[in-house]
Amino acid sequence: MLASKRILLIIGGGIAAYKSLDLIRRLKERGASVTPVLTRAAEEFVTPLSVSALAGEKAYRDLFDLTDEAEMGHIQLSRSADLIVLAPATADLMGKMVGGLANDLASTLLMATDTPVLCAPAMNVRMWDHPATQRNLKQLQADGIRFVGPNEGDMACGEFGPGRMSEPLEIVAAIGTQLADGPLRGKRILVTSGPTHEPIDPVRYIANRSSGAQGAAVARALSALGAEVVFVTGPADVPPPAGVQVVRVETAQQMSDAVDAALPVDAGVFAAAVADWRVATASDRKLKKSHDGLPSLEFSENPDILKRVSRLEAGRPALVVGFAAETNDVVENATAKRARKGCDWIVANDVSPKTGIMGGSENAVVLISDDGVDEWPRMDKDMVADRLAQKIADALAD
Ligand code: CTP
Repeated sequence: MLASKRILLIIGGGIAAYKSLDLIRRLKERGASVTPVLTRAAEEFVTPLSVSALAGEKAYRDLFDLTDEAEMGHIQLSRSADLIVLAPATADLMGKMVGGLANDLASTLLMATDTPVLCAPAMNVRMWDHPATQRNLKQLQADGIRFVGPNEGDMACGEFGPGRMSEPLEIVAAIGTQLADGPLRGKRILVTSGPTHEPIDPVRYIANRSSGAQGAAVARALSALGAEVVFVTGPADVPPPAGVQVVRVETAQQMSDAVDAALPVDAGVFAAAVADWRVATASDRKLKKSHDGLPSLEFSENPDILKRVSRLEAGRPALVVGFAAETNDVVENATAKRARKGCDWIVANDVSPKTGIMGGSENAVVLISDDGVDEWPRMDKDMVADRLAQKIADALAD
């Protein structure tokens, strides 16, 4: 897939730069050529010699290098690649890209190019969460810059949270998606997936039986057709697919916020089993057994994410796909649900226990759209996903 592809790899200055060495190896193993560029700060973490030895190419470092300018020139360097990968993408580099600054070789290359750019951010969790970084992220996404990660986890600085650079193989998968010549190339698609957990107290929550399998399969299938996928997932049993941007949430409210942050998108697929209610009186202390009887929980309504996005006046995705999990009168209920929510398509299924669909590997769905009711035979969730992704590609191409 990557054979004979040319990657311009810009390495920013962060501790995650060490992973870029492995990234170079992985790309080379797959037949890609890698031209490395280091920022000054990157050289504090990895040496030009190791980068250049692994890439088998000169490591570019200096905007004002007379030899480089005579041989290649920064403009040509920026345009001779199939893809520019920024890994690690630091807060500083992201800020420079937003501001259009060009005061070193890396930032100048990024300004001088019309080649697609994929960023793998890596930074301290507070820096990632900082409003400036989040603002920059939104702007860069709006400018068409693609992202992989960051992941959540233990960080080199000793803190925990989002900010870890994606692993080299995840970045390779994202590069593969970027360079895939599928019909969804250039399209950004949001997928929600999994259940939500609504806390009762710090140790108890209300959940549902969704495994997240169908949503993950849809995200994988869309990504395989070349889409840039933002995958907003509740606490699911199945892992997210490689090569998509993963946003992990727990509650419906967090899912709703994450969806807002992901907009604008060309299409939204809402496969999550979102809890309709949350406990209004969730306690910040563990509820204790009391002698005064059973606790009573008060509920309040969660935001209906699908309905809200379907009814957006500005920035509504061109295609909004909802799911309907029903236990009876599937077509009638789902048809009414489609009208109530205002989405374009509803993928409905029967999740009553006898079907074994919820938590199982197969699905039997009915697709309801303006074209009517299309009943698909029972098949593997992966096949449902491939068929749905192809239909989405056809619809977005119209
Ligand atoms: N959905 C959503 N936000 C919610 C509830 C549901 O985005 N708060 C989305 C789901 O992701 C799915 C669709 O709406 O795509 C239908 O979900 P479902 O639970 O079947 O519908 P409800 O509106 O909850 O209807 P009901 O529970 O009455 O069947």
